[in-house]
Amino acid sequence: MLDSYAVVGNPISHSKSPLIHAAFAQQTNQSMQYTALLAPMDGFQAIVENFRREGGRGLNITVPFKMEAYRLSTHLTERAEIAQAVNTIKFEDNEILGDNTDGAGLVRDIIENLGIAIEGKRILLLGAGGAARGVIFPLLQKKPSQLVIANRTPQKAQTLQESFNSHGNMDSGNFMRFAGEKFDIIINATSASLYDELPSLPSDIFTQAILAYDMMYSREPTRFLKLAQHQGTQQIADGIGMLVEQAAESFYLWRGIKPNTKPVITMIKSLI
Ligand code: ATR
Repeated sequence: MLDSYAVVGNPISHSKSPLIHAAFAQQTNQSMQYTALLAPMDGFQAIVENFRREGGRGLNITVPFKMEAYRLSTHLTERAEIAQAVNTIKFEDNEILGDNTDGAGLVRDIIENLGIAIEGKRILLLGAGGAARGVIFPLLQKKPSQLVIANRTPQKAQTLQESFNSHGNMDSGNFMRFAGEKFDIIINATSASLYDELPSLPSDIFTQAILAYDMMYSREPTRFLKLAQHQGTQQIADGIGMLVEQAAESFYLWRGIKPNTKPVITMIKSLI
């Protein structure tokens, strides 16, 4: 029987993870299968237990179950513990190991694929939901000069800042609080692009930026990326690189082999 893996979410039909992992498996000669599983909103735990009973080796977890996966894990990697969310599960004997590879995926995409150092840079992170929370610790580990969290609801940004303050130099507030300030890297971790919306950002926030990064992706550049380009940001990037890199980190946890992500990023871009 082939080693079996899957991604669980709701919705799930749009997921590119089966294609990505099939490409990794082929490239590295791994005998495995990887499917997509739709979990009912109140049926995540049952899906996980059933998959495990049938001999499944590991799972990716996507919206909206990452916090439930965190609670279901019997032990956690440090980065999952700090993110308080799990996107990768590995079944080991009687244990469920929970990991979070999202932040590592973002950091690898910025540093390795886009060729931009994070060390010493001033970063503006937009959003204070689960997506933002998952990337803060891995970003801080790369020693930016400051990480500023800005959110439509500033209290949420402040709460996040308070829980990560000991890991690096941080600040937080609403979007307008940082009008006129210079940021090197601006990352959109809000869900605005999902609804073709744009956070109400100060004008000219992008003019001196080296990179504008949208963690979402779509066929056309998002409104966030179009504005950044219009204001003269040197480089723009959507979340496809992060998607493939977080998958590669999960694949490594399960199989102990690092796949080559570049051709897979190119392949997924051609399909969007
Ligand atoms: P996720 O898990 O994707 O982070 P979430 O936890 O629901 O989802 O968080 C969504 C984030 O996107 C929040 O920071 C939200 O801002 P609020 O905290 O003020 O609600 C932000 N967001 C969503 N739509 C937005 C919009 N149109 N403009 C600005 N921020 C938006």
